[in-house]
Amino acid sequence: MNLLQRVEALEAEIEAASAASPEEVERFRVAMLGRNGQVTTLFEAFRQVSPEEKRQLGQRLNQLKQAAQARWEAMKTASAAVPAASDGPADPTRPAALDRPGSLHPISLVRDRIVDVFARLGYTVSQGPEVEDDRHNFSALNFPPDHPARDMQDTFFVSLGPGEDGGKGDLALRTHTSSVQVRVMERSKPPIRTVSPGRVYRNEAISARAHCMFHQVEGLYVDKGVSFAELKGTLDHFAKRMFGPDVAIRLRPSYFPFTEPSAEVDMSCTVCAGKGCNLCKHSGWVEIMGCGMVDPAVLANCGIDPAVYSGFAFGMGVERIAQLLYRVPDLRLYWENDVRFLEQFSVDAFRG
Ligand code: PHE
Repeated sequence: MNLLQRVEALEAEIEAASAASPEEVERFRVAMLGRNGQVTTLFEAFRQVSPEEKRQLGQRLNQLKQAAQARWEAMKTASAAVPAASDGPADPTRPAALDRPGSLHPISLVRDRIVDVFARLGYTVSQGPEVEDDRHNFSALNFPPDHPARDMQDTFFVSLGPGEDGGKGDLALRTHTSSVQVRVMERSKPPIRTVSPGRVYRNEAISARAHCMFHQVEGLYVDKGVSFAELKGTLDHFAKRMFGPDVAIRLRPSYFPFTEPSAEVDMSCTVCAGKGCNLCKHSGWVEIMGCGMVDPAVLANCGIDPAVYSGFAFGMGVERIAQLLYRVPDLRLYWENDVRFLEQFSVDAFRG
């Protein structure tokens, strides 16, 4: 038999293999993949053949090995599911034996809580692409080309390679999820109430306090006669739902290209209740998000008549809210995926 014939014969044998017990599974493994197993022996024979045959058979031989491994895994799983005779009759309704059940990532937990507060107020959840074009991340939001406001969000631009995107260099990793709000306004008519959770990217040096990747939940409400008072009431409700009925918020004037007026939202410090501590840098207040009334130009850019409709928007960093809830001193811990860190968070820690 030449090498090709031997490979073919073995392919058929592997495909037909079955095992009724863990012992037989192990016998299969030794016979195929063990040191003197048939697959191993074929690899040895392969070393002796001509370069021409090597080219023809190399890939096939690798596939054969993978097939043997896959077959072995499948037989292993199947034989483990067969109860030993001493277990009595199998009970298919029995709960699976979860050795170490996982838990949601802390950032997912906090994101879900934030979204939940707004969902109860009637907000929908909308999502959009992480690689975004200039219009949705910037220009529709009133960031003119070359305007210094673009530097507020240090951007990773994306190139598809020479010629691929017509050399326009129009794409970037989104710097905020306001881009999703533009997409929602473009495709729907007011009333609009939506929150956009998602991952965003900024070109920041990674440190305990900053990361080049983080998560936001941004919100948008557009209807006839939406007022600043409603914005403040909504955010006050959010802060109390998230951090407890005793917290207060205050708004500080700020600037965003897409809102007018704009404000930074501070919350009374949850550690010292306003007396002054390290977390609030002895001011009694911690910043939790940005907000404002949607600039009429943004509404117009998205096909909504600003003479008829008004709206408010807000945006917060999920890591920031998580930090205030969990007091994790170093942001990098969230992304190192050390199980000793992650397993400390469970859904019940919140509910308790
Ligand atoms: N998009 C802003 C940011 O990422 C946050 C924001 C959203 C501010 C909506 C005001 C209104 O910094």
